Amino acid sequence: MAGPLTLRIRRPDDWHLHLRDGAMLRAVLPATTARFGRAIVMPNLTPPVTDTAAAVAYRDRILAALPAGAAFVPLMTCYLTDRTDPDEVAHGHAQGVFTAVKLYPAGATTNSAFGVTAWENIRPVLARMEKIGLPLLVHGEEADPAIDIFDREAVFVERVLSWIVRDYPGLKVVLEHITTEEGAAFVAAAGPNVAATITPHHLLINRNHFLAGGIRPHLYCLPVAKRERHRLALRRAAASGDPSFFLGTDSAPHPRADKESDCGCAGIYNAPSALACYAEAFEDEGALDRLEAFCSLNGPAFYGLPANEATLTLTRRDSPGPSPVAVEGGAELCPFRCGETLRWSVGD
Ligand code: NCD
Ligand code: ZN
Repeated sequence: MAGPLTLRIRRPDDWHLHLRDGAMLRAVLPATTARFGRAIVMPNLTPPVTDTAAAVAYRDRILAALPAGAAFVPLMTCYLTDRTDPDEVAHGHAQGVFTAVKLYPAGATTNSAFGVTAWENIRPVLARMEKIGLPLLVHGEEADPAIDIFDREAVFVERVLSWIVRDYPGLKVVLEHITTEEGAAFVAAAGPNVAATITPHHLLINRNHFLAGGIRPHLYCLPVAKRERHRLALRRAAASGDPSFFLGTDSAPHPRADKESDCGCAGIYNAPSALACYAEAFEDEGALDRLEAFCSLNGPAFYGLPANEATLTLTRRDSPGPSPVAVEGGAELCPFRCGETLRWSVGD
């Protein structure tokens, strides 16, 4: 009798990841290094990683926290502020430290207070990045408090992303963690310099999942999950085979107590279940033959890096979802799909 369906794919990379620092870093790193070869590490620490020296020090802390034997390469990013010096960004790039620069509109999300407040401030740095081939990663939400939270991505695409792409046509831009039909359509219509990451949770949940029948703080993240038609558009984009779409988990751990609170933090910790979730979504789309490109090939091609040589196996076998994760000092994390059953299991 034939065994369960098994897929062997090149080892994936995570093109959008929050690793945090200290005890949290040590708690979350193993789930990522067990599955991913490389990851683009977000710079929204407190204080943020805004120069080469800070990124080198952060990279050293990540490398020091790696589980024994892990072959994992953290790819560092520079947090763009109103005062970012183009020479500093170019220096970090030339030193092989910065793989990309991250744009947070000030106020848009967790630890974005140091983000950009006026677009004219970043034009010189965007021009330099275009020239040297350093990608811009964008948290694509309009921070104007007058804009409804469910409309912030579509408004950002119209008001901001459109001129960035028009004025800097040679700049590589990634619209991070897209959540809307508008975001997906913009990226699909743009040229090869414009790409998007898609999270596992935005392929599986819509806004009913976190708001209907009780509020579920562990499903709250930014950009927030939208209506069902947007989720379906994201699934079509991911499964389309268009190389502009690739894997970025946006795994963003926060202690349970900070999520289950009067003012709960945005961020879904999904590193332990992410690959199984992507496999579920691609299976539902009838696109398992495109899973490897989305997880392991399109991202490296966009960044001009080789795909990983090592492989990983996904087996169509029910497996228990992740358990809560303890953080030294007493905090706990509640991972995405905690206590649920996953349809796919991941092995070497
Ligand atoms: C992220 C975090 O917690 O750092 N939160 C989130 O909801 N995704 C920040 C971000 O990527 O927006
Ligand atoms: Zn993020």
